[in-house]
Amino acid sequence: MCGIVGIVSSNTNVVPLLVRSLKRLEYRGYDSAGFAFIIEGKLVVLKDKGYIDHVVKKYNVLSLYSNIGIAHTRWATHGQPSKINAHPHTDCKGLIAVVHNGIISNYLELKRQLEEKGHVFKSETDTEVIAHILEEYIIGEGLTPLQALHKLVKILKGTYAVALLYANTPNRIYFAKNVSPLILAVSPTYGLLSSDIPSLIEYSRKIVVVEDGEYGFVEPGNIVLYKDGRPVNWRPRIHVVNWSVADIEKAGYPHFMLKEIMEQPRALYDTYSGILADENVVRAAKLIVESSKVFVTGAGTSYHAGLTATYYFARVANQLPHAFISSEAELYADLASEDTVLIAISQSGETIDTLKAVRLFKKRGAKIIAISNVIGSAIPREADITVYTRAGPEIGVAATKTYLTQILVLQHIAFHVGFLRGLYSESELKNYIKLLGQAPKAVEQSLQRASPHINRLAMRLHREEHMYILGRLLGAFLALEAALKIKEVSYIHAEAYPAGESKHGPIALVHQGFPTIFIGTPPAHIVEKIASNIEEMMSRGAFTVLIGLSCYEDVKANFKLLLGPCDEYLAPYYIMPALQLLAYRLAVLRGYDPDKPRNLAKTVTVE
Ligand code: G6P
Repeated sequence: MCGIVGIVSSNTNVVPLLVRSLKRLEYRGYDSAGFAFIIEGKLVVLKDKGYIDHVVKKYNVLSLYSNIGIAHTRWATHGQPSKINAHPHTDCKGLIAVVHNGIISNYLELKRQLEEKGHVFKSETDTEVIAHILEEYIIGEGLTPLQALHKLVKILKGTYAVALLYANTPNRIYFAKNVSPLILAVSPTYGLLSSDIPSLIEYSRKIVVVEDGEYGFVEPGNIVLYKDGRPVNWRPRIHVVNWSVADIEKAGYPHFMLKEIMEQPRALYDTYSGILADENVVRAAKLIVESSKVFVTGAGTSYHAGLTATYYFARVANQLPHAFISSEAELYADLASEDTVLIAISQSGETIDTLKAVRLFKKRGAKIIAISNVIGSAIPREADITVYTRAGPEIGVAATKTYLTQILVLQHIAFHVGFLRGLYSESELKNYIKLLGQAPKAVEQSLQRASPHINRLAMRLHREEHMYILGRLLGAFLALEAALKIKEVSYIHAEAYPAGESKHGPIALVHQGFPTIFIGTPPAHIVEKIASNIEEMMSRGAFTVLIGLSCYEDVKANFKLLLGPCDEYLAPYYIMPALQLLAYRLAVLRGYDPDKPRNLAKTVTVE
């Protein structure tokens, strides 16, 4: 993954700005970090293994003064996290410094050719080849940096968003892009580039998304963009984003994860209002009705939102789309044709597995409906129709608010499909849509009600190493997301199963005190079944927890928390915030930082 950022100004010190912007990219990876500045005509590179704060402190970065700099926060792909492998990487002469997000797939071949020409490599990374290739072109062959980039994009294979400094052009940050995200921001005083929007909005809200194959440079007050040796007019491509700086700060919460859990009512409210005015919801529904096959895909939490959507499609639209994990797309794409629709869900819009799934389906002529939280990101750009969630920037690596907003969007689409199929009248459709308008309130009530109980539950569970999370139908899908949240931030092995399946294997592990969390969702006829699954577990000594809705009033469990009325459409909004809170509390009680789960990154742009 990794995050890259570059800032240049004609007369201000960009060092503190760069540190701040890099910190906002930390969710993309945080095993090492580094900076390159040009100070008095010379490149200064400072980097190390560890968090950004460590690198800043170690080199006293904030005591430096420079009007130009690039920076990187790393999530290792080639070469273990170490000082040597941290970015920026430099050429042999120390005139070019490169930061990179992505993977250069032909780097071994390029490295061999460069070594034959006498280049000496310092790191084990794929990125370092870029610095040496540019050295060949600029210093060896005397090309201008722009000419060199033109040649570079022709020989690099793989994925990259690259920013670079060249000591002899101390007012320009050069860049090139293929697949990995790269954003430029328009400013009268700065030149700005980054892997994502939140790290730049403090300086500008006018964003230009760089397209594959494009390269160029930013300088104070100007952007120069090229493709295939010709200038590109980027002005018609300016997006104005309305996120505020407060949206991306912690606003007094100890962690982004908690802040994002707590701001779900607002995220759902904004998404709901947005959907009501968005004709793409109806367009998406029409596309689905006109097609003969519908697939849903996503990775991680987005996949879980997709699974949950299949439940609602089955219930209200009389259709069961097939949901698959996006990295498994190959198998399903073979079945796609011109009458197929793929609903691709990705909060970032940049997850490479989901992007590749989109491309495989497109090749077969399928139509793509994207659900994303980031305007202008890669998946929406390739989709036929996009419906945006309006959750605001999500910084915590574990997705929370985007998950519920994705479900809200998908429920809307499902209701419209049902209506277009003639399953109910327009006034019934209106009533359903009105009901979904209660989602923000449901989350608000659930958070208020759940908070003290979840704290007690977390105290009971935080020393455990294993637990089951079980549910039926909708509850089984919610259980998968709850288990993922608990695993990724608290490192407790939480395993989700359809409750009925537990007796076919998982129950063998149950012993005295083994925690088993049941999700109590509608429809009402499954209540009895869940009750007997709980009995089965209790009789084997399990510590049973029931988190659910009012229809479970008569069901017994060792710990019970009922959070709202028994409504199947609002069930995720009553139940999931409590489980997200549980994951958060478990992480904190176990002494982990839930915003920086080990080995994970917010946006995975490598396969
Ligand atoms: C990563 C994150 C998950 C996220 C998944 C999909 O694995 O750690 O939290 O759900 O990517 O991300 P997307 O941006 O495509 O929704």
